[in-house]
Amino acid sequence: MDESGVSTDKNRVWIFDTTLRDGEQSPGASLTSAEKIDIARQLARLGVDIIEAGFPAASPDDLEGVRRIAREVGTADGPVICGLARTTHNDIDKAWEAVQDAAKPRIHTFLATSDIHMKYKLRMTREQVVEKTREMVAYAKAYCDDIEFSPEDGCRSDPEFLVEVLSVAIAEGATTLNIPDTVGYIVPNEYYDLIRYLITNTPGGDSVIWSAHMHDDLGLATANTLAGLMAGARQAEVTINGIGERAGNTSLEEVVMALRTRPQTYDLHTNIDATQIVRSSRMVSNYTGMPVQPNKAIVGINAFSHEAGIHQDGMLKHQSTYEIMTPESVGLSQSNLVLGKHSGRHAFRVRLEELGYEMDNDDLNQAFERFKKLADKKKNVTDADLEALIADELYGPEEVYHMEGLQVACGQMGMPTATIKMRGPDGDTQIVAAIGTGPVDAAFQAIDKIVQMPNTLVEYRVAAITEGIDALGEVTVRIRRDENGRRTFGGHGADTDIIVASAKAYISALNKMLTYTGYADHAPEGAAATVKVGAAG
Ligand code: KIV
Ligand code: ZN
Repeated sequence: MDESGVSTDKNRVWIFDTTLRDGEQSPGASLTSAEKIDIARQLARLGVDIIEAGFPAASPDDLEGVRRIAREVGTADGPVICGLARTTHNDIDKAWEAVQDAAKPRIHTFLATSDIHMKYKLRMTREQVVEKTREMVAYAKAYCDDIEFSPEDGCRSDPEFLVEVLSVAIAEGATTLNIPDTVGYIVPNEYYDLIRYLITNTPGGDSVIWSAHMHDDLGLATANTLAGLMAGARQAEVTINGIGERAGNTSLEEVVMALRTRPQTYDLHTNIDATQIVRSSRMVSNYTGMPVQPNKAIVGINAFSHEAGIHQDGMLKHQSTYEIMTPESVGLSQSNLVLGKHSGRHAFRVRLEELGYEMDNDDLNQAFERFKKLADKKKNVTDADLEALIADELYGPEEVYHMEGLQVACGQMGMPTATIKMRGPDGDTQIVAAIGTGPVDAAFQAIDKIVQMPNTLVEYRVAAITEGIDALGEVTVRIRRDENGRRTFGGHGADTDIIVASAKAYISALNKMLTYTGYADHAPEGAAATVKVGAAG
């Protein structure tokens, strides 16, 4: 670092994580403010340099979410906390209001520069865009030293015009210039050339950090980002699991591990603690309700499995035959049989700590109870089982409704019937029964009778976490509230019984919906009854 705090290490890449902003714009991803805080804390643990915490002008909730992150995660030794703003006074005011309490605040403002966007979206001339950039970067700079400017749709903009706009942004005090491929159109050699051209030709270009922000519409986001870094960009804008608008953004884990695995090619390094990658990936997947595809690089469930006989044989002889990085290096534990039914609370806690999970006593006790039940049913409790088991304590939404018991009768001879016992927000317990088209439908109908929150099930998936007939089943559901229903809410549940896992997942999604919409206002009929037994078709 020099005296102004700017890094003098020319090979250092700044990781700018936009999971909570561009990532949260993914269709279907919605996060409560408690979840955003948890993710921000995890991103800090992972070692990201900048967290783009949201778009504060979007709504009072968004502003509040960014403000909480600025206060709680943006400490002096923590990451820079950034808020996004269009080039308007109101957006910049709101962004500053949200980030000002961070020890290291940043305002990120953007304005489109491509002919297509200027003509059809902004209805502005080039001159007007240059003037707006001048005015609004100066306006943001009056609040904050650290200013990022993005020419939106930069990769479809005229490079000479970009030079003009960017030189104005630098003159007004922008410290980071981000060149986004907003529509995922560019290819790596073009992006390399564009970044080299801009760095070389923009007056003042050697005094700022250049940044790559790519979308994955052609599956080239990581390749383009690496090309940008090769060309001299030193900030990579990424999201966990590559979530984001449409086909998503560049994924953090891919860029970080490419730099790490190929040092001779890139000779670049980041501050990321790669052993936190898998944990971050699972947290983001659980909270957003967006599963990670099995063959996803680095974090997919198959990323380190070797199926073909020849590969397995090679692996047994030497790991390097078929693995270019180790699972441990990204935080995936290889140990298989960890605990059994005779393991005590101490061993349970120690193993969780080895896996990197810290829990308070209450959460640990609840998780231990579930572990004991699981160990009774399942001989080999693996690390993956353990992680699924504690997911509720670690990532679960606030528990508005809690399932105390579920009994289901199904089969070909009768009507599938579910009887459920649930505790509500006021502590009262209800028991109801319902008939459905199948056991899952019956369980969901019974839950609906208690919670009374009209919704549509938009996704239901079951997966086995581990191998074998006694594997834990993991269910993901996503629901949409019937009235006012653009947002969807995801829930997860794991159990050896997939009907129980399904009920847990559905209740978890409902709890999230209720927390998000404010369950204090939600007073289902009959919720006050202490024990209510009903039946319905
Ligand atoms: O993709 C994009 O252009 C953006 C900008 C706001 C940087 O997300
Ligand atoms: Zn974007």
